[in-house]
Amino acid sequence: MSFRTTTADYVEDVSPGSGALPPRAWYASSDAKSLSLNGSWRLRLSATADAEDDSFAEEGYDAGDWAEVVVPGHWVLQGDGAFGSPIYTNHLYPFPVDPPHVPTDNPTGDHLRVFDLPDDWPAGPDAGGAVLRFDGVESCARVWLNGTDIGEFKGSRLAHEFAVGHLLKAEGNVLAVRVHQWSAGSYLEDQDQWWLPGIFRDVTLLHRPAGSALDFFVHASYDHRSGEGTLRVDSDVDGRVTVPALDIDVATGDAVTVPVLPWTAETPRLYDGELVTQGERVPLRVGFRTVELADGLIKVNGSAILFKGVNRHEWHPERGRALDLETMREDVLLMKRHNINAVRTSHYPPHPAFLDLCDEYGLWVIDECDLETHGFTEQGWRDNPVDDDRWTPALLDRAARMVERDKNHPSVVIWSLGNEAGTGRGLTAMAEWIHGRDSSRLVHYEGDWDCRDTDMYSRMYAFHAEVETIGQNLDGGTGKRRELPFIQCEYAHAMGNGPGGLADYQRLFEKYERLQGGFVWEWIDHGIRHPELGYAYGGDFGEELHDGNFVCDGLVFPDRRPSPGLVEYQKVIEPVRIDGDGSDGTVRVTNRYDFADLSGLAFEWSYQVDGETVEAGTLSVPSLAPGEAADVKLPEPPGDARGAETQWTVSALLAADTAWAPKGHRVAWGQFPVAPRALPSLATTARPLRGKRRITLGPARFDARTGVLHSVGGIEVSGPRLDVWRATTDNDEGAEWQSDTRYAVLWRTLGLHRMQHRLDAVELAEDALTVRTRVAPAAREVGLATVYRWTSDGDRLRLTVSVKPEGEWTLPLPRLGVRLGLPGTADRVRWFGGGPGEAYPDTGTASVVNRWASTVDELQTPYVRPQENGARADVRWAEIGGLRIEGDPRFSFSARRWTNERLDAAAHLTDLTPGNEVWVNLDHAQHGIGSQSCGPGPLPQYFLRAEPTEFSFVFSVLDR
Ligand code: GAL
Repeated sequence: MSFRTTTADYVEDVSPGSGALPPRAWYASSDAKSLSLNGSWRLRLSATADAEDDSFAEEGYDAGDWAEVVVPGHWVLQGDGAFGSPIYTNHLYPFPVDPPHVPTDNPTGDHLRVFDLPDDWPAGPDAGGAVLRFDGVESCARVWLNGTDIGEFKGSRLAHEFAVGHLLKAEGNVLAVRVHQWSAGSYLEDQDQWWLPGIFRDVTLLHRPAGSALDFFVHASYDHRSGEGTLRVDSDVDGRVTVPALDIDVATGDAVTVPVLPWTAETPRLYDGELVTQGERVPLRVGFRTVELADGLIKVNGSAILFKGVNRHEWHPERGRALDLETMREDVLLMKRHNINAVRTSHYPPHPAFLDLCDEYGLWVIDECDLETHGFTEQGWRDNPVDDDRWTPALLDRAARMVERDKNHPSVVIWSLGNEAGTGRGLTAMAEWIHGRDSSRLVHYEGDWDCRDTDMYSRMYAFHAEVETIGQNLDGGTGKRRELPFIQCEYAHAMGNGPGGLADYQRLFEKYERLQGGFVWEWIDHGIRHPELGYAYGGDFGEELHDGNFVCDGLVFPDRRPSPGLVEYQKVIEPVRIDGDGSDGTVRVTNRYDFADLSGLAFEWSYQVDGETVEAGTLSVPSLAPGEAADVKLPEPPGDARGAETQWTVSALLAADTAWAPKGHRVAWGQFPVAPRALPSLATTARPLRGKRRITLGPARFDARTGVLHSVGGIEVSGPRLDVWRATTDNDEGAEWQSDTRYAVLWRTLGLHRMQHRLDAVELAEDALTVRTRVAPAAREVGLATVYRWTSDGDRLRLTVSVKPEGEWTLPLPRLGVRLGLPGTADRVRWFGGGPGEAYPDTGTASVVNRWASTVDELQTPYVRPQENGARADVRWAEIGGLRIEGDPRFSFSARRWTNERLDAAAHLTDLTPGNEVWVNLDHAQHGIGSQSCGPGPLPQYFLRAEPTEFSFVFSVLDR
């Protein structure tokens, strides 16, 4: 005899659930009472879905010995590991693929909360009803109130409401929620992120007075020709709509047209209003705007827009996807301050309050449905739920829950069906339903390359060359596709050091009308705070399958500190372009906003001599309209600075406080040289002298046998010697599915991380010490003939390095320069060159030429998985440990308390501990960064090719 347990059959049911109310518009609060049920709940964890019966839901059940968890929260992130662990996979399902079945081992959390109604909660026969709302539970929940089973649901990042008024008591209400980690819904939620079960968004009891609002749809369009907005609120419950600032007072269902200021992401004008039904006053925030597809372009209020976007997952390093309002606001403020104008809510509708913030501060939003079935790619998409009619009701339920919840947000301009779910009838059904329900927005889905269901052609990680072809409309495709605009819903993979090539993409986006910008992947590293590891990533919890640090690929670190990638993006997408060549005394200012003029900005100039500002002032720039440019005269260059390097810096600053940044916040800048620097010159007057153990040359002492430098002016130095290796970046490593060459793999195969240095000759001449070497890896015939030539004027010391490749070099070099060791006391650095942050050949747009200072520790960029970082570019000179190092030509500077080899071997930042020396790399060049961790490698112009090269440094000792 065989039997199946029946208690938890709903877990594997493909239907969306039962018992919930129809979805409706979300609003934060109204005059109706509500009771937050967030806080401490009782938790009992079981290993399987039906290990326990339902008796815990009964009134009087004693849960006194249960654990406690915080709601909203994920149980696996609470209890110090006592409640299981997070699992990270990119696209692999962490369970056998046999839809809709899930494993018997199915962590199940029984949650209990007992609550009283507040004293002023309406009671009696006219009290109306009440609704219990769950804003997000992963992945499947069954709910009982006071012992009555009220339903079950799936759709982790979607709201579900239940009518519960008839069950409520004044005191001692028992709310029981059984949450299963795995369910049929898990097959639809295969997003690249941690699997984190729990009640992770708010639980709220809402009073529903008699005659209160049900669902309502705010239609607020804008006619850019007349300057008028038209408002109509369709409401399930009749009422009136008022907008005092516009003198609007109309019945629901009636349209009214009045002059308004439109809403855009740049000018997020919202009008406060109210929907008043017989039983409730619901606050409205109305933004008038019209989204359309016109002339093959996405237009808002008649103008084409350019997305300068990011993909945002919800993330907090301790609380996972349970975000509080302040964290959400921090995201929005950081985005606005970094010139970002758009968010794709990858890959699910966010906490609804986030969209309120987007309305308020101004961000274009692609609201994406909670749908991804990426793991089916492993079986050639066989049995993909989006192409199986049995699942279509669940897909339509998800589409409806997103659209109905979020439809009243002016910031939402595009609905996205989901992510990486292949193709199929279910997606078409979703698109048809959405188009029918809301014709005022456009529909997006990346997987639909023929654009059967969508209103734009969207791709992810398309290489620059292909993007250009698409821009020129030479990419072919279906007739429909050729008529549609193009966006990159994901590009510029921000994993580790990078992304490189952002500026090259932006140039294309700005050049071709059809290209309407893109969304960098992604906003934040999903590192989990960990007592031993700093931040944990995939595999750190012993997962059977995992994708390592692929989960840390954001523009901000897990603690939301901006990474260099964000600073680069900020510069690349700045809304004002400031160009000039310094020689003709004018600067060209271009307004790159889509809607705003420049009246909100104040311009400043400053003039630098050898990196120091000697004079500064304000610049009067006309309030240019979007797209306009003007040449603005700069003042006469101050003073006579013959022989020095001089340059202009012009900045655009906020002229007044805004909601997202204070007056003076820098929005854009440009720098242009006037006179270049004179390169360091040095007479070769000193003569090398050979002693028994040492060779002396001016201030320097060398080992007499090896010719290796030992000290300069009494400062001990190890090396310098040629260094071509860098701790490979995630982008050097590349992703195996990308077509570009994965150089990290080839570099290691060739042996660039284990170069041997052979000494060929130590030669003393009248004016120079010359050390000839050959640097090459074991087992290979290629090598670098490397000559160190030392000269001195008695006071200063010049090293000229010449490198000649021997054999057939088919690979670029990671870096080319010298590395030297200094005593560990060398903890401060000053330099004249690019800063304040790191910069590499294709990530250096934001690097400002100036004088900078830092500690060695602060030079390090804390990529969650340690890798090459922290190089300052275009350095003219640097001072560290009592030495001054001048470059001829400019160089790239880095310094750290561990070797590059130890950096390379580290898996977490906590693996890096300071040694006794500070290791300084003086690089003539570095190889580009690219974004091959999920995209193209560096473009050819950023390659560091092995070719004959010569570069030099002048060392001197600082006065102490
Ligand atoms: C995309 C996917 C994202 C993420 C990214 C790589 O294919 O849509 O969710 O996995 O690649 O980080």
